Amino acid sequence: MARKAAPAAAKPAAAAAKPAAAKAVDKPAPKPKVERPAAKAVDGEGTAPAVRDTSSILAAARGAAKPGPMSKAEAAARMKPSAPAKPAKGEAAVVPPMPAKPEYAKPKPAKAAPAPEGDRRFFLGVLVGSALGVGFTTVAATTGLWTLAFARFMFPNVLTEPPSKFKIGFPSDFPPGVVEEKYKAQFGIWPVSTEYKGLRQIVALKTVCTHLGCTPNWLEAEQKFKCPCHGSGFYKDGINFEGPAPRPLERYAIRLADDGQLEVDKSRTFQEELGQWSDPACFVAV
Ligand code: FES
Repeated sequence: MARKAAPAAAKPAAAAAKPAAAKAVDKPAPKPKVERPAAKAVDGEGTAPAVRDTSSILAAARGAAKPGPMSKAEAAARMKPSAPAKPAKGEAAVVPPMPAKPEYAKPKPAKAAPAPEGDRRFFLGVLVGSALGVGFTTVAATTGLWTLAFARFMFPNVLTEPPSKFKIGFPSDFPPGVVEEKYKAQFGIWPVSTEYKGLRQIVALKTVCTHLGCTPNWLEAEQKFKCPCHGSGFYKDGINFEGPAPRPLERYAIRLADDGQLEVDKSRTFQEELGQWSDPACFVAV
């Protein structure tokens, strides 16, 4: 029983305490002042840093960032960089200069490309092939020359001289006192129809000077043979009369062939100083 009476006695006390508490809510009790320790000197000058309490730090943080969740528009606005200021109408747009390229981004000077392996082999092949080609060509040319020389040695010389016997035409083709010169260059003779020791005859004179072997010329105006080398002169019948020539011109053998033509044989010569011109083999009587 004593335990039940106690709460009853306490109720009036609680009831009495409520108005007091209500009064306390209407008028907040002042915060007790916190005794702060004296600031300690940090540096040698004796100045103390400013001391901030927790409430001031929280207030500063709440003012800098909006607490709580944010919408997508707010987040995009925060992430979006600030747009550059648009130029006013009539003003030229100012383009900021391009930043300089770093060293690693600059193009490097091109180096001379080394010769490919295929070109090098081709060059070596041409070099070696040229040397071998020159060598083989030289050997082939030398062999060919030796072959030609051997063939030339094995065959006899070609006879280029005119034949020793040849026909010059009929006796009627040589009128008296005429020196025919058309056989001088080819056969080296002068067919002449002349008179020797009272006899009319056709003879074949040798076109060689009896001095030193030059070829005289027939001078129709002077009716004589004249040697251009030392001036020897010969009559139409071949007798020498001037110059260093020691003897008359020589004659070739001449005869009438079976066909009636005059045939000259250069394999035989006749000399006047030896009395050979009296031989009928060196003239054709007309
Ligand atoms: Fe003819 Fe001397 S060679 S005159």
